[in-house]
Amino acid sequence: MKLSDIKRVLILGSGTMGRQIGFLCALKGYNVVLYDISMEALKDSLKGMEDLGSWFVSIGRMPQGDLSKVMGRVQISTDSVEAAKEADLISESVPDIPEIKAQVFAKFNELCPERTVFTTNTSMLVPSMFAEQTGRPEKLVALHFHDVRTTNIVDVMPHPKSEPETVELVRDFAESLGQVVIMLNRENSGYVFNSMLSTLLMSALTLAANGVATIEDVDRSWMGVMRTPIGPFGIMDQIGLSTVWTIIDYAAKNTGDPQAKANAAFVKRYIDSGALGLKTKCGFFSYPKPAYSDPDFLSGKRAAE
Ligand SMILES: NC(=O)c1ccc[n+]([C@@H]2O[C@H](COP(=O)([O-])OP(=O)(O)OC[C@H]3O[C@@H](n4cnc5c(N)ncnc54)[C@H](O)[C@@H]3O)[C@@H](O)[C@H]2O)c1
Repeated sequence: MKLSDIKRVLILGSGTMGRQIGFLCALKGYNVVLYDISMEALKDSLKGMEDLGSWFVSIGRMPQGDLSKVMGRVQISTDSVEAAKEADLISESVPDIPEIKAQVFAKFNELCPERTVFTTNTSMLVPSMFAEQTGRPEKLVALHFHDVRTTNIVDVMPHPKSEPETVELVRDFAESLGQVVIMLNRENSGYVFNSMLSTLLMSALTLAANGVATIEDVDRSWMGVMRTPIGPFGIMDQIGLSTVWTIIDYAAKNTGDPQAKANAAFVKRYIDSGALGLKTKCGFFSYPKPAYSDPDFLSGKRAAE
C-alpha cells in the first residue's frame, strides 16, 4: 500500500488524544471514523473537535469557511463492524493498558480489511507488548502524537516484527499530516520526549506526595528557573489525570515500587473527587485561569488560588 491509498482513517478511542488526531486527519483531507465504546465520549469528541477547529481558525491555521468541510469528513460510531469497513489505517488511543490495547486490536483484526495498517498512540508501553495479539504484528507500528495544539513533533517507532514498508508508510502518513517525525531505531518506553518528560513528572509527584513542597511551588520552581509558561503539574492537567494515573498505577503494580504507589495514590485522590485536569476544568489547578498563568505567579507574591 502507498500513501495515496490511504483514504479512510479509523480512530479507536475518542478521548483527549483520539479527537485531536481525528481532527488533524480530517483537516488534512482524510475521511475519519471515530470509534469508542462510549457514545457520550463520542458526542463530546465532536464538540471538542469543533472547539479545536475554532481555535485553529482563531490562530490562522485554517480558514473559517473550512471548518464545516473538515467536520463533514468525520463520522462517529459505537458499531465496530461499521467502523472497520474500508479502514486503511487505524490510529489507536484507548487507555494505556496492554490488555485493553491487545483486545481492541484483536477485535479490529477480525473486522478490518487485510490491508489495514495498525498504529498505536501509546505513551509509555511498547508495541511488542501486544503485537502478537493484534493478529498482524508486521503491520503494527507506534505513531505517537503529542498535544497537536502546541507541537507537530511525532514519534514513529517500529517493534522487531514491524515490516519496513509499513514503517515507511506510517512515516509518510505522519508527514502528510504536517508532522515532524522523530524516527526511533528501536523500541523505547516513552519514545524520546516522553522518556525525558516522565522522569520530570515522577519527580514532581514525588516531591508533592512526600510533602516536600506544594504543587504550586514545584511548578513555580520549574517555571521560574526554566522560564517556561507551564510546569509539571500544569502539564499533567493537560495530559489528563486519568491517563497520568493509568500509566503510574500500571508501573507501580509492575515494579512494586512504594514511591510509585504513593504517587499513584496521590493522583487518585484528585480523580476520585472528579478533578480530571483541563478536560473537567479542574485538576491540580482550576481552569480557564490557572494560578500559574497569573503574571504574579513567579513574582514571589502569594498566588490567587
Ligand atoms: N493524554 C495525552 O496527553 C496523551 C498524549 C499522547 C499519547 N497518549 C496516549 O493515548 C492513549 C489514550 O489516552 P487519552 O488521554 O486520549 O485517554 P482518554 O481516557 O482521554 O480516552 C480514552 C478513550 O478510550 C475509550 N475506550 C476505552 N476502552 C475502549 C475500547 N475497548 N474500545 C474503544 N474505546 C475505548 C474511552 O471511552 C475513552 O473515550 C493512551 O495510550 C495514552 O497513553 C495520551
